[in-house]
Amino acid sequence: MAGAEEASGRALIDVRDLRFQAGGRQILKGVSLHVMPGEIVCIMGMSGSGKTTTLHCIGGLTRPTGGEIWIGDAQIVGMTEDQLNGVRERMGMVFQYAALFDSLTVFENVAFGPRRRRRLPEDQIRAIVAEKLELVGLPGTENLYPSQLSGGMAKRVGLARAIALSPPVLLYDEPTSGLDPVVASVVDELIMQMRDKLGVTSLVVSHNITSIFRISDRIAMVHEGQILIEGTPEEVRASPDLVVQQFIQGRSHGPIEQARRLARLAEVRPPLHSEG
Ligand SMILES: Nc1ncnc2c1ncn2[C@@H]1O[C@H](COP(=O)(O)OP(=O)(O)O)[C@@H](O)[C@H]1O
Ligand SMILES: [Mg+2]
Repeated sequence: MAGAEEASGRALIDVRDLRFQAGGRQILKGVSLHVMPGEIVCIMGMSGSGKTTTLHCIGGLTRPTGGEIWIGDAQIVGMTEDQLNGVRERMGMVFQYAALFDSLTVFENVAFGPRRRRRLPEDQIRAIVAEKLELVGLPGTENLYPSQLSGGMAKRVGLARAIALSPPVLLYDEPTSGLDPVVASVVDELIMQMRDKLGVTSLVVSHNITSIFRISDRIAMVHEGQILIEGTPEEVRASPDLVVQQFIQGRSHGPIEQARRLARLAEVRPPLHSEG
């Protein structure tokens, strides 16, 4: 108890018994985790385990049906939209598929937040955008359109947009999904640079084992809407839990995934010739 209070006293993100129910299903069944200032914590878990839902609750995009989420001194569950807007400004979100506006240039995409949230003169907005693009290694790309970007570049523009208002917290959803290993390692490097250069506190949702063990200060594994284990990479690696071990060795895909894979195999099997 004293330990939990001590941790919550210093944590920048503190999630307690988070619940989310939708479509008659309990999707989050009491998720608790915390992120200390300056930490990178990864939420790992199989597809459908509740990672994105947890992240969206923390980012104020999904309203939980129970529990508490503390962002610093603010408990955001049950806040009004107006109150939430103030908290959202302190959290940058990097979405799974970059989620750039296709009809806007890179400049307009990154300038979106500063334009909407703060009344800044145009030259200041230009300076902010240039600085953020430089930080993600894409200086001078202002006039490109999303269709002209590679997958890795799009992710980096998504990151530049997330840091446009210099938030102390960054929330990433599958930042390396769909990237080849080399580009993924560049993105991993950037996530660590955000911590090391800017002191950002990060929560990263991922099922990419290589990335998770490369960037995490601590790892929380979600399984069927609950935290199965939370600890340092070494502690997670040493876990005797079979589900944890199967996941980190890339062997487990759970009964649903297995059924899907069997179904896919059945689809590609050549048709049997019947004698009728
Ligand atoms: N608003 C919703 N209504 C109904 N089901 C949902 C909703 N949001 C998420 N789910 C379901 O909850 C489960 C967990 O989803 P998600 O958090 O996206 O998983 P993950 O990111 O770990 O793959 C999935 O089965 C998903 O279909
Ligand atoms: Mg997800």
